[in-house]
Amino acid sequence: MKGIILAGGRATRLRPLTTITSKQLLPVYDKPMIYYPIETLIKAGITDILIIIAPDYSGHFLNLLGDGKEFGARFSYAVQKEPKGLADAFIIGEDFIGDDNVTMILGDNIFDQDFSKEIKEFKSGAMVFAKQVEDPERFGVVEFDQNMKAISIEEKPDNPKSNYAVVGLYTYDNRIVEYAKNLKPSPRGEIEITDLNNIYLQNGEMKVKIFDTLWEDAGTFDSLLRVSNIMAEKSKSKQ
Ligand code: DAU
Repeated sequence: MKGIILAGGRATRLRPLTTITSKQLLPVYDKPMIYYPIETLIKAGITDILIIIAPDYSGHFLNLLGDGKEFGARFSYAVQKEPKGLADAFIIGEDFIGDDNVTMILGDNIFDQDFSKEIKEFKSGAMVFAKQVEDPERFGVVEFDQNMKAISIEEKPDNPKSNYAVVGLYTYDNRIVEYAKNLKPSPRGEIEITDLNNIYLQNGEMKVKIFDTLWEDAGTFDSLLRVSNIMAEKSKSKQ
């Protein structure tokens, strides 16, 4: 299983903080944000990791993270020139993925959960994780039937069909690369991970795992502050 951390994008929502650095290098309490997705992948047993970054501040990522030895991992880097969409990661990562399966985590998604069991058990198809939230319209949203079987995923719907958000941790078999290459951009001009998820869902090859531990998409001022406070409390309660 290979790992990808998608840490590009322009992060305009976090300006002026992101006028001088990348969102994923901003502090979350006592360490840079990207440490969290790195630790989530490593905890899940994934140590061969491609980090996809935007051209601006790319050198800062290299200075901070190096080749990954300090983390007990191996890091490779790729530059995404334009934020074309989350699915672009599998096109950029084609050679890195090779013939393997792949787990992608978003560089601003913060978890406090060990996903190693689910990821080690993964054989083929696709697997996503979903969590109940108060503001599902900000996310990919899963629709379930009466038996809680997932039937569709909608990207940022105006009228969400549930309050289960698809979080930024996705595991796929090797077909993901070909599926990504055949995607057409959505009305907002991006190639969407939700379109990839719906391919697997419609083929009956998608597992949606519900979980209930900490998850924050740290891409807004409020969520960045909230998750920093949570991590500070956690660190103090350990002392
Ligand atoms: O956080 C979970 C959500 O992430 C999912 O529920 C949605 O289905 C999914 O589309 C995504 O929504 P966001 O609105 O959070 O996506 P955003 O455009 O903010 O991108 C997520 C991260 O990926 C962000 O840290 C920047 C990075 N990114 C984004 C794009 C579009 C890239 O590195 N390259 C890109 O082309």
